[in-house]
Amino acid sequence: MTQQRWHDGSAGDIDYAAAGQRYAEFRQEEPFIAARLRIALGDAKRVLNVGAGTGSYEPTDIEVVAVEPSATMRAQRPPHRAPAIDAVAENLPFADGEFDAVLATFTVHQWTDLAQGIAELKRVTSGPIVIMAADPDRLHDFWITDYVPEALDRELSRFPAIARLVELLGDDTRVETLPIPLNCRDGFTEAYYGRPEMFLNPAVTGAMSSWTLLDEAVRERGRSKLAQDLADGTWEARYGHLRTQPFYDGSMRLIVRHDTNP
Ligand SMILES: C[S@@+](CC[C@H](N)C(=O)[O-])C[C@H]1O[C@@H](n2cnc3c(N)ncnc32)[C@H](O)[C@@H]1O
Repeated sequence: MTQQRWHDGSAGDIDYAAAGQRYAEFRQEEPFIAARLRIALGDAKRVLNVGAGTGSYEPTDIEVVAVEPSATMRAQRPPHRAPAIDAVAENLPFADGEFDAVLATFTVHQWTDLAQGIAELKRVTSGPIVIMAADPDRLHDFWITDYVPEALDRELSRFPAIARLVELLGDDTRVETLPIPLNCRDGFTEAYYGRPEMFLNPAVTGAMSSWTLLDEAVRERGRSKLAQDLADGTWEARYGHLRTQPFYDGSMRLIVRHDTNP
């Protein structure tokens, strides 16, 4: 398989040189999610983070090796994170069973060949595989569909069905809902469930790949409708209760394969 790479090395459908310059600013690690991921990694001593981006969710108490194809993303890794290796999930430059666990957050939907990527994760680890991804069947539950349904439609075609991930990972895989906390620091779409005004800031939506794939006219139409509904109380009447709801059970899922290689 020939992997298409953008100018900065980006390997998926997003050119991070164009869309990811401010990723680290708006997509910070959310401690509640980090804690759930850390538990799932168990007692691993050496972890591989694939599609590592700027290093969010990499544990700080164990050794982490990071793989990230985009130079734009690698350049935004803070100094306390190890530099990432330029490679793709579909062709990992590691020996069989070299890691105790593998982590992959917000990335599987961008891989060119999901089956090959998952096969590689299974090959290089002797322990758990921990994936965070959206369940496409739940995307349209979120209220942003009233304003920019196109953003969720794009995600529907990008995110693999959870059943497909489970099928590829194998029998010993469990799927958990990952509740999103109010004021979530990691600015993916549902993170702003109780802060609708954030969608009016183009820099905020610029750090969400689903929005960057839309025409500017579509984004602008959605923003104007939301601004109007916020001004006249329509949003408040429908969804105002979310402003104080501590957690939101949306589309986020934790998919954990426990099995170890023989
Ligand atoms: C939305 S970012 C998530 C980054 C990080 N894991 C996080 O949670 O913040 C998706 C990342 O997947 C990377 N990616 C895309 N295609 C990939 C592939 N085939 N193999 C490995 N990483 C890939 C992108 O370069 C990007 O950094």
